[in-house]
Amino acid sequence: MKILVTGGAGFIGSALVRYLISDTDCEVINVDKLTYAGNLDSLKSVEDSHRYQFELADICDRPAMDLLFARHRPNAVMHLAAESHVDRSIDGPGDFIQTNLVGTYASLEAARTYWCSLNNSDRAAFRFLHVSTDEVYGDLAGCNDLFREDTPYDPSSPYAATKAGSDHLVRAWGRTFELPVLVTNCSNNYGPYQFPEKLIPHMILNALQGKPLPLYGDGTQIRDWLYVDDHARALYQVLQLGQVGETYNIGGINEKKNIDVVKTICAILDEFVVDKPSGIETFVDLITFVKDRPGHDERYAIDAAKIDAELGWRPVENFTSGVRKTIAWYLENQPWWQRVVDGSYRLERLGKGSQD
Ligand code: NAD
Ligand code: DAU
Repeated sequence: MKILVTGGAGFIGSALVRYLISDTDCEVINVDKLTYAGNLDSLKSVEDSHRYQFELADICDRPAMDLLFARHRPNAVMHLAAESHVDRSIDGPGDFIQTNLVGTYASLEAARTYWCSLNNSDRAAFRFLHVSTDEVYGDLAGCNDLFREDTPYDPSSPYAATKAGSDHLVRAWGRTFELPVLVTNCSNNYGPYQFPEKLIPHMILNALQGKPLPLYGDGTQIRDWLYVDDHARALYQVLQLGQVGETYNIGGINEKKNIDVVKTICAILDEFVVDKPSGIETFVDLITFVKDRPGHDERYAIDAAKIDAELGWRPVENFTSGVRKTIAWYLENQPWWQRVVDGSYRLERLGKGSQD
């Protein structure tokens, strides 16, 4: 199978590409614009594989997408390219409208044009898997409910609203044009190679540098944490076994308050780091409560019963083992994050002519 992955230089995309190359026989075409979130350093382990190719392109660029479909003739698309950080969507929603909505539209149209050109059996086998988020369902504040596949959409942030819109576009292309689409909605991911603007790597790297650990509001917000390799495996399972037109929620079955996540990170760092930054006895002392995120959702939690019952997927990593592995990875891979922190990872991108 030849899979065109969009956003394969990002956090989840690169985990998916590494999984597809190491654990399957698939060929992968990684289409990525290399925004600030795209990092080719995360793909070093696969870059020499004869089953892997990188294409620098903006998914909003329809002619470029048409060319890529014509050149590579994929059997499937796994669509992950997006602007993904809620705080950035509050500071500047424009890129989110562009990539998450216009980019998904351009990708769908390029896929549809190509799909229409296929013979009957290739058309039937083709899949467009759209990777989305649990944030489309809104806030589960003050109740014990879980997000199910039929939970009504109620997005809070510009990021969540654009992802909700992209989900609707994908389902419309399935219903109206019969493009064989699948949608997944997943909870918070964590693990190696995550850009340090997101909670867990932000806290690990700040702690290692002796900087404050900023918790928004009172830190009691709840997220459902999933180890990224479990997500990659789930996506491939949905691509292979999922029913066309269906949605699958993917979650970690790991609800945690932010404050508890950060205290766990501090405790593990206390154990792992012998030479602490000067003046620090325990990393917990770095926790600082800061102004809350506007429109901050209190709680997300996924009901992952459908993907378990129908496709036999469930997470293998629990939060304690996953966070220990993640912290160990950041400690052992300082060159990766140092290049992110000092900005030198972007030089590779500029060398490849990105417009960003
Ligand atoms: P990320 O921000 O780490 O990576 C996004 C990737 O998309 C980057 O490589 C970036 O260069 C690329 N990209 C952005 N705009 C592009 C464009 N116009 N054209 C081509 N490439 C472009 O994101 P992530 O955390 O890996 O998330 C991947 C997908 O999974 C997103 O669609 C996100 O909404 C979804 N998701 C993320 C999480 C999570 O916890 N991170 C959870 C559920 C769903
Ligand atoms: O739920 C899935 C979503 O999870 C994905 O769709 C998004 O792409 C991904 O970014 C993530 O969104 P969140 O907003 O939940 O993730 P973030 O890591 O930004 O924040 C997690 C929680 O931690 C949230 O309640 C805000 C809080 N937070 C975050 C940061 C960066 C802090 O308290 N302090 C921080 O410095």
